[in-house]
Amino acid sequence: MCGIVAYIGHRQAYPVIVKGLKRLEYRGYDSAGIALLDGSLKLYKKMGKVAALEENVIGKSLDGNIGIGHTRWATHGEPSDRNAHPHMSNSGKLAMIHNGIIENYASLKQELIKKGYRFSSDTDTEVLLNFIEDIQKNNGSTLEEALRIALKRVVGAYVIVLIDKDNPDTLIAARKGSPLVIGIGKGEHFLASDASPIIEYTKEVVYVNDYEIAIIKSDELILKNLGNERQTPFIQKLDLELAAIEKGGYDHFMLKEIFEQPGTIYDSLRGRLDVQHGTITMSGIENNIDKIKDANRILIIACGTSWHAGLIAEYIIEELCRIPVEVEYASEFRYRNPIINRGDMIIAISQSGETADTLVAIETAKEQGAVILGVVNVVGSSIARLSHAGAYTHAGPEIGVASTKAFTAQLAVLTMIALRIAKERNAITPERYLHLLQELHDVPEKVSEVLEKADLIREVALKYQDATDALYLGRGYNFPVALEGALKLKEISYIHAEGYPAAEMKHGPIALVDEKLPVIFVATRDAYHEKIVSNIQEIKARKGKVIAVITEGDETVTSLADDVLPVPAADELIAPIISTIPLQLLSYYIGVAKGYDVDKPRNLAKSVTVE
Ligand code: AGP
Ligand code: GLU
Repeated sequence: MCGIVAYIGHRQAYPVIVKGLKRLEYRGYDSAGIALLDGSLKLYKKMGKVAALEENVIGKSLDGNIGIGHTRWATHGEPSDRNAHPHMSNSGKLAMIHNGIIENYASLKQELIKKGYRFSSDTDTEVLLNFIEDIQKNNGSTLEEALRIALKRVVGAYVIVLIDKDNPDTLIAARKGSPLVIGIGKGEHFLASDASPIIEYTKEVVYVNDYEIAIIKSDELILKNLGNERQTPFIQKLDLELAAIEKGGYDHFMLKEIFEQPGTIYDSLRGRLDVQHGTITMSGIENNIDKIKDANRILIIACGTSWHAGLIAEYIIEELCRIPVEVEYASEFRYRNPIINRGDMIIAISQSGETADTLVAIETAKEQGAVILGVVNVVGSSIARLSHAGAYTHAGPEIGVASTKAFTAQLAVLTMIALRIAKERNAITPERYLHLLQELHDVPEKVSEVLEKADLIREVALKYQDATDALYLGRGYNFPVALEGALKLKEISYIHAEGYPAAEMKHGPIALVDEKLPVIFVATRDAYHEKIVSNIQEIKARKGKVIAVITEGDETVTSLADDVLPVPAADELIAPIISTIPLQLLSYYIGVAKGYDVDKPRNLAKSVTVE
């Protein structure tokens, strides 16, 4: 994600754009920049928030009625001044901002370097910009035509906005997979990632569709498809308030991020999982595949929800790769004078990439010779920079303190890593490998199906909002899902909840069971299903209330449980990414019913950068 803002009209562009970028900082904020055209093409950009950009341009020329601005959430090239947007083409005539990921940028970059192009950044964006310029130069075509040709070769997601020094009265934009809204004013047009920078100027907007190109002058908006056919702009009236727009119309960032998961899981797989060719390609893993596949042991180090992702990864890696895995709380690991052997591989999992316990733990391990792989969401964060290699989760900024979309993106990336290693070690049959690739590919669709049942989950949640305690139980791959579900409930509703291996009940916790205690089972169909049915019967025999996440059509558990939360069938190794969704919603709806601030729960911080 990132924020884009552009303006053309009778006002000075700078103040409109900067104010708009601040409205979009929730979408990503590692660096910001602006390009203004007033005879000369002026470009200013700076690492940090928009305020850093404002400071950077003090005393500089900010004139111009046409401009483009960007607040970045890096995906290719760590946050820095040079990687910030806008980018300038080699000729210095074109400037561009971009939201999204160009998956085939590497091959395009090689082509351009051979033609003598030079790059001043590590971004995929700068490659696309010069690819467009190269086509325009070689074909002698208009910028619009060159853009149409270029976009037919591009693989990935984008919203781009271009300024052309030779056409100072026109902005050109295009969209596929990332959002673009155009505000229609009187003798002016506004472009942005969502309506929040636009709403104070006009309520008339056009939501640009995928594969559309917009040619915008101050008093004219033309929409075309990639076939150069005119499209009729569909003008809508904004009826959302500013605060609601930032949350995409959802009541809370947490709910928005839960519902973003089909897209964010897809983004974590994008450009990496290729079911058609049966491949998984992750550059950070490829470059270290020998070290990883020959590891004597894998240590996973993390905290909180990321630690739960590590537990699931332990089951997956040991099952597929037959490499011993240990999962460590970072805070315990770092103080324990840990034994690190040469050949040990460390996987550090962190959404923020700034968690102090995890950071120091991997510093300790690195000093003792371990190879560090980072599975991190924030590009260029401390843990990412400290790692020898890794894979970003591409979940976009996660604003809600309770981690949801970052968790499922972690699982998707960790599963791809495990499959890639298993294949390299010939530890998995081609059939099972291809089956699991397909299963992983199908996850976004299955998550969408679960989200369609949100109202049912909300009804169940309201039945248990007055509980004072809860138990979450699961076996095998579903045990860490139970732990994660319990953490979500604790964090969001302040109800005491514990996760336990279901079989452990008889070793003590079953003493807690009475008619007031809700027991949430993660009971999707797997190798342990018969045993989990017995555990459910044990709870029912003691009058406990049973809520069960089940595989659709599971009549056995449905007949036993007080409430069921059905999810689509999936291979047990892939199922956790899907089974966690109802538990996220359960905690969200209970927290909201209790009137709590689910985006900023008491006592919690989004990134725990203190010990
Ligand atoms: C999860 O919902 C919590 N916000 C918390 O446990 C979090 O997962 C933990 O602090 C680790 O954060 P990280 O992934 O950014 O390292
Ligand atoms: N992929 C581009 C980059 O890394 C755009 C990222 C964004 O959407 O902010 O610069």
